Amino acid sequence: MHRRQLLAGGAGLGALIATHPQRALAAPAKRLGHDGFPMPQPARTLPQPLLVQDPSRTLLERGWRFHEGDVVPPMPDTHNATYLSVKAGNALGAAAMTFDDSDWKAVRLPHDWAAAQPFLETANVSQGYRPRGIAWYRRTLQLDPADRGKTIELHFDGIATNATIWVNGSTVAHNWSGYNSVHIDLTPFARFGDETNVIAIRVDANAMEGWWYEGAGLYRHAWLVRRAPVAIVTDGVHCDPRKGEDGRWQVPVTATLANTGRDPASVTVEALLLDPDGKTVASGRADASVPVLQQAEATLKLDAGNSQLWSVETPTLYTVVTRVLRDGSPVDERRTPVGFRTIRFDADRGFFLNDQPVKLKGVCLHQDHAGVGVAVPDALIAWRLERLKAMGCNAIRCTHNAPNAELLDLCDRMGFLVMDENRHFNPAPDYMEQLEWLVRRDRNHPSVILWSVFNEEPMQGTEAGVEMVRRMAATVHRLDGARPVTAAMNGSFYDPVNVSTVVDVMGFNYYQADYDRFHQLNPTKPITSSEDTSAFETRGAYESIPAGHVITSYDEEAASWGGTHRDTWREIAKRPFVAGGFVWTGFDYHGEPTPYDWPTIASFFGILDLCGFPKTAFDIHRAHWIDDEAVVGIAPHWTWPGREGQTIPVFVSSNAETVLLRLNGRDLGVQKVDRIMGNEWQVPYQPGRIEALAMRGGKVVATAVHETAGAPVALRLTPARTVMAGDGEDVQPITVDAIDARGRHVPTVNQMAQFTVEGAEIIGVGNGDPNSHEPEHGDRRSLFNGLAQLIVRAAPGKGTITLSATADGLKPARLTISRLATQAPPQVPVTPPTMTIGEWRRSPAMAERPDPAIAPPDGDNNSWAFVRSGTPTRPEASAGWRVYRAAFRPWKRVGAEGGTIRFDSIGGTAELWLDGQKLATKASAAPGPLVADIPAGTGPRRVALLVSAPANSPSGILGKVTVTTR
Ligand code: GAL
Repeated sequence: MHRRQLLAGGAGLGALIATHPQRALAAPAKRLGHDGFPMPQPARTLPQPLLVQDPSRTLLERGWRFHEGDVVPPMPDTHNATYLSVKAGNALGAAAMTFDDSDWKAVRLPHDWAAAQPFLETANVSQGYRPRGIAWYRRTLQLDPADRGKTIELHFDGIATNATIWVNGSTVAHNWSGYNSVHIDLTPFARFGDETNVIAIRVDANAMEGWWYEGAGLYRHAWLVRRAPVAIVTDGVHCDPRKGEDGRWQVPVTATLANTGRDPASVTVEALLLDPDGKTVASGRADASVPVLQQAEATLKLDAGNSQLWSVETPTLYTVVTRVLRDGSPVDERRTPVGFRTIRFDADRGFFLNDQPVKLKGVCLHQDHAGVGVAVPDALIAWRLERLKAMGCNAIRCTHNAPNAELLDLCDRMGFLVMDENRHFNPAPDYMEQLEWLVRRDRNHPSVILWSVFNEEPMQGTEAGVEMVRRMAATVHRLDGARPVTAAMNGSFYDPVNVSTVVDVMGFNYYQADYDRFHQLNPTKPITSSEDTSAFETRGAYESIPAGHVITSYDEEAASWGGTHRDTWREIAKRPFVAGGFVWTGFDYHGEPTPYDWPTIASFFGILDLCGFPKTAFDIHRAHWIDDEAVVGIAPHWTWPGREGQTIPVFVSSNAETVLLRLNGRDLGVQKVDRIMGNEWQVPYQPGRIEALAMRGGKVVATAVHETAGAPVALRLTPARTVMAGDGEDVQPITVDAIDARGRHVPTVNQMAQFTVEGAEIIGVGNGDPNSHEPEHGDRRSLFNGLAQLIVRAAPGKGTITLSATADGLKPARLTISRLATQAPPQVPVTPPTMTIGEWRRSPAMAERPDPAIAPPDGDNNSWAFVRSGTPTRPEASAGWRVYRAAFRPWKRVGAEGGTIRFDSIGGTAELWLDGQKLATKASAAPGPLVADIPAGTGPRRVALLVSAPANSPSGILGKVTVTTR
C-alpha cells in the first residue's frame, strides 16, 4: 500500500468548514455510533460489585500518610544507642513509632506516586521517563480489644517495588517484587485498645523488574485481616472442580488451617457448593486437629453431579463456601467462585474448552492506564475488560507478572481464558516462594488455563535454563495438578538443550515462521503463540510522520520481530495446531516507547490506546475474532478539509460476506470480504458521508459510517455509565470530544479542555497521545485527534455528579450522573496520627521519695525495667515510690508552639517533671488522668514521673500518654 502521501489529521482542520452553528445540538446518545464517535453507548446500570470472598478482610486504604523521598535516620553514635537501636520495636527514623509524620501528605490507596511525576528525559526510557525514587508510607492503626486473641494479618496486594515494612518499630517484611502480595502476620506484634499500632513502609521504586512502566508505591489493595485463632490460612482453600471418568463433577476441597491459639483445637470443616442462584447443591464435612502454632489440612469432596458448565460465552459460576466449625459454631468462612469446565491442549488441534476447540484470541496486558498509572481501580479494570470483550477477545496473558486478584475475579465472571505469568525466572527459595504464592492464590479460577513460568529468557537454551524450568514446573504441578505449564520462548527452540522439552505447552513469542518446523519436529508438543504482533499505531493518525513520532493506524508498521495485526493473525488462524495468540498488546501502556524514545513516553503497541480508545486494530480484531454477530469498521474518519479530490485509501474490516462502500449515496463498488486482511478502496475525497455496508446473502447485516464534521462548536462529555455507585470506590472514564453544529464528533480537534466536577473527584486525565507530556493528574487535558478522557471517582452516598468541560471558543459541555446509594466495602477506620509516649524506663521500688533527677547511668540497660504505658505495676505489700523516665522529640508544631502532655490514667499520686522543671502533681492515689502544658522546645525532652503507689493496688502509667497541640 502506498499511503505515505496521505493525510495529516492536524489540529483544527474541521474549523475550515463550519456550518450552521446556530442549530440545536443533537443529544449525545443519538449520535453514538453514527458519526464516527468511537465509544459505546453509556450503560444505564451499575456493574455487579466484586465478590467479597473473605469476610475477615477489611480494606485498609484510608488514612495513610505519604512522604516522597527517603528519610535517612542518623546513625546511632554511642554504644548504648547502638545497643538499643537493634532491639525489637526500636527502629529508627521514619520507621520509629514516635516519628512525626503530621506534615506528610494524606493519601488513600491504591496509590501510584510515579503517575504524578513529570516526564524527564533523564529518567529511564522503559519506565516512561518518569522518575520513581524512594518514598515512605505510614499509617496508625487501632485494634479493638475484642480482636485480642484473633489471628491478625496485614495484606498488601502489590507494592512497587522493593519494600521494607515495620510494625510498631519492628521489621516485619522485606519484599523484593512489585507483583506478589505481602502477607504479614501481625498477631505477635499487635497492640489493642488505646495503644496504637504504627505501620511504616519504605518503598524503593528505583528497583526495576520490568522494561515497562511499573509505577511506584502501594498500588494494589491493602487489607487488615482478623480471624478466629483457628481458621483457614490466607489462600488456604483449594477447590478446583474435576470431572470424573463417569462424566460427573466433583469438587475436591482442601482447607489449610492454622492455630494461633494456646490450645490444640479439633474443628470441623464444612464445605457447601452453591449454584449460581445461591442454592446449596452439595455439601460435605471433614474433621481436623490443629496443633498449637502449626497447620493442618482438612480434605473432603463435594459431589457436584451434572453442573452447568463455565465457558467463554456462558461463564457460569458456582461458589464453594468453606467454613470452620468449632464446637459446632462457625468461626471462619471463605467464599470461592468456581467454574465447571475442562481444558486440554492438543498437539494437533489446539486448545479445547469443555471438549470443544476454542481458538485463543488473546491480548497481553500490563496493569496500567492513562491518568492513574498502575493504580488501576477495580471498576476501571472491569471497563477495560469490557472493551476487550466487545472486540471478541477471549484470552488474556498477564504480562509478565501476576495480575491483581480482582482481574482474575472479573475474568471468571466475564469469560476470559487467562495465561497467568510469573515474574522472575529463578527457582531459588525467595523466588520460588513467589511462584508458589501465585499458584496458591490463583488455582481455583476457572479463567486460568495456563501457567507461564517465564517470558523470553536468554537462558532458555541452556542446561541451567532447563533445570530451572524443571524445578519451577514441578512446583506448579505439585500445587495444581490441573493446568499445564508453558514458557514464553523467543528462540533456541531447536537447540539440543532447550526448555521447550520440559514444559507442557510450547509458547512462541513471535517466530511465526517456525510454527510448522517446530510442530514437525515435536509432533506431540502442544503449541500456542504466547505473544505476537507488536504492531504500531497512533490512534486517529493515518499517516506516519517519523519526525513527529506518529505512526499510521492503517496496520502497516510493526517491530522487526513482530508483524502487523493482519499478517500475524493469518498465520495463527490457519494452523489448527497453534492454540491461539496473544497480541502485544491489548492497551497501550506507559514506557517502552518502541520504535522511538524521548520525547515519546508511552507505547504504540495497543489495539486500544492508553485511555482505551480504539485504534483501527480494534475493528480489525473484531472482524477476525467475532463470529456470532456481523461487524464492520471503516477507517479513516471522513473529515479532511483541503484534501478534496485527493485519493484516500479507505480500509474496511468485516466478518460478513461482501462489503459495499458508498460515498454520499454513490456506490463505490462491492468487494468480497477478506476477513483477515480487510478490504480497501482508493477514494477521491469528497466531504460528506462514507459508509460501509456489510452484507450476507445480499442483505445488509452491519454498517459503519463516517460523516465529514464541520467546525467544532461545542464540547461533549460521554460517560461509560449514566450511574455510579455511591460507595466511595466507584470509578469510570468519561470521554471528552468536540462536536460540530450538527452534533457530530469532530475527529481532528487537539484543543485544551478544562474540567470541573462536583459529587466526584477527578483521579486522572489522558488522551492517548504517546508524545504528550501534559500532567496526568489535574483538571485539564488537550484532546488528541478528537478525544480526551477524565477518570472520576464518585463521592460516597446518594446524589448527583455534575461535570463540566470548557475550551476556548467552544460551548461548554455539562453532564450529570446519578450516584446511587450503595453499600461501601468496609474500611478500617482512620486513626488520626497522634504522638504517644509508649516506652518508658521504670526504676526499682523505693521506700522514700526519690530525687526526680535520678536515672540509670547511660548504658545501664539492666537496672531499670523497660515498660510500656498501659502496663500496671504488680501491687506491692507496702507503699513505695517509683520513677518513670522517657525522652521524646515533640512533633513539629508542639516543638514550636508548646502543647499538652496527657496521661490518661496514673495509679498512685504523682509528680510530673519535664527537663528538670516540675509541671504538675496528681494528688489522688486513685487511678486518674494527669494533664499538663508543656512549653515549646524541640528536644529531646526528658520526662520524669514520680509515682507514689499505695500498698496493695495497681500503680504506674495505666493508660496512654499523648503529646498534642493545645
Ligand atoms: C517482547 C516482550 C514484551 C515487549 C514486546 C515489545 O519481546 O516480551 O514484553 O517488550 O517484546 O515488542
